[in-house]
Amino acid sequence: MKNFLYPPDWSLASPELKKMPPDAIASTAARIEKSASPDTSTLQTGQRDHDSLFEHVAWVYVLCRERLFRDDTERIITALWPEGPPGPGTRLIELGCGPGFYSCRLAERFPDMSVTGVDRSESQLRRARERAGALGLNNCHFRRINALDLSCVDAEFNIVLASRLFTILPEQNRAVAEMYRVLKPGGRCFIAEPRDAFRASIPLFAMWLLAGLNRSRNGYREPHKARVFSAHAFENLFPAQPWKKISIWQEGRYQYALCEKG
Ligand SMILES: C[S@@+](CC[C@H](N)C(=O)[O-])C[C@H]1O[C@@H](n2cnc3c(N)ncnc32)[C@H](O)[C@@H]1O
Repeated sequence: MKNFLYPPDWSLASPELKKMPPDAIASTAARIEKSASPDTSTLQTGQRDHDSLFEHVAWVYVLCRERLFRDDTERIITALWPEGPPGPGTRLIELGCGPGFYSCRLAERFPDMSVTGVDRSESQLRRARERAGALGLNNCHFRRINALDLSCVDAEFNIVLASRLFTILPEQNRAVAEMYRVLKPGGRCFIAEPRDAFRASIPLFAMWLLAGLNRSRNGYREPHKARVFSAHAFENLFPAQPWKKISIWQEGRYQYALCEKG
């Protein structure tokens, strides 16, 4: 079977679940509660993330993002807004936005939408701001926030986007719980994750190598190898939240989730 899947058409969905190509899964009513951790949500701007490779060798990831990885912009747009462009005032947050690739693309495409990109690396955010500035975007902002403990009120956003975040993030369930929390009812989240462990690990290999050459350090928080989910493990990330609809699909070297909050 051809492994290309058209973005989900939810217009025909039953309230519980639309069978989506290639394989959609049902949500459950279970809910992960937000942990009562200390306030780590807003990371101090200007304070560097000393033990992150994305901070120390930011340019390596920027290069990989630009030259190596798939550009999913059109796929994201078609999946999130199958009925047409987002309305004025739509609010989107991208978690782990890195150098702002998708935040800027989407803000540029939809000037009436407000885009917030968040990341814990100040170096990545600086690149993102430079990109937004070069494009003259005034509807796209970047903030240093922990994706595992977002300093956003409940139901603040219409859309949550995360690309390649779970490959390096521990506690993915907590991140999904935060995505659910900050979405408005009817809001959607789109998640893109690589499936090819080798390719997904290339930036990590390169960053570990360069960081070692530069500083002889080995205390960075990122794994040496990207964590790539099996299709089954990826599916299992989402039903812990009471989503109205979940669709999961694979397309070549990537897998995607589109979830809608009831
Ligand atoms: C592999 S990059 C993905 C960047 C971008 N989304 C893309 O598609 O190219 C992962 C990003 O997540 C950020 N990150 C890691 N842990 C984070 C956390 N707890 N909160 C916010 N950002 C985080 C890293 O700094 C890095 O910029």
